[in-house]
Amino acid sequence: MKYVIEHFGKAFKWHLIEYEHISKIVGKENLMFTNVKEKKEALSAFGEARKESIADLNLPDICVLDPASDRILAPEDCKHFKYLVFGGILGDYPPRKRTKELLTSRMKNAETRNLGKEQMPTDNAVYAAKLIAEGKRFEDIKFIDTIEIDVQKGLSVQLPFRYVEVKGKPLISEKLVEFLKKRKTI
Ligand SMILES: C[S@@+](CC[C@H](N)C(=O)[O-])C[C@H]1O[C@@H](n2cnc3c(N)ncnc32)[C@H](O)[C@@H]1O
Repeated sequence: MKYVIEHFGKAFKWHLIEYEHISKIVGKENLMFTNVKEKKEALSAFGEARKESIADLNLPDICVLDPASDRILAPEDCKHFKYLVFGGILGDYPPRKRTKELLTSRMKNAETRNLGKEQMPTDNAVYAAKLIAEGKRFEDIKFIDTIEIDVQKGLSVQLPFRYVEVKGKPLISEKLVEFLKKRKTI
């Protein structure tokens, strides 16, 4: 299975940290970034980086992961898909169906699936989809909704998204936690 991240807009530090995490999750050789208009070299360290949009590459057997899709991704689906495509879109709260608006609407011939209706960060969506591609059913994946990270003494930041539970903890990269702690503004 190849995992594709269709990037949108500027490539912020937060994106780069998530993309590095995704590369660790699926392996650099299985990861492609599309619609990369800047920082192509930085992204090339984590996977193949292309400036074209996935919508213009005419790749076969594509499935777009979109919370607004009406079907849940299942292991048997993944036997027919070669590419799972995700939006390189930072979470917005409340969610505004941006995957549908920016990505799915442009992928006329692609199938779509969801990973539940709750919004996950892209790295967590990739991780959940990989578990399913490897045979796990969505219903058997454990999630944690809304997490709180202590950033300074007496100060925490809430992330109102869904995370996959791994060994009792939400899946979040150490680099992202460090980034949140060092950020001057919350
Ligand atoms: C942070 S989410 C952005 C979601 C966006 N706010 C929306 O409402 O569509 C980043 C990407 O992860 C994937 N994703 C996150 N949660 C998902 C879910 N529940 N089902 C399917 N894909 C999901 C999608 O590919 C999405 O574009």
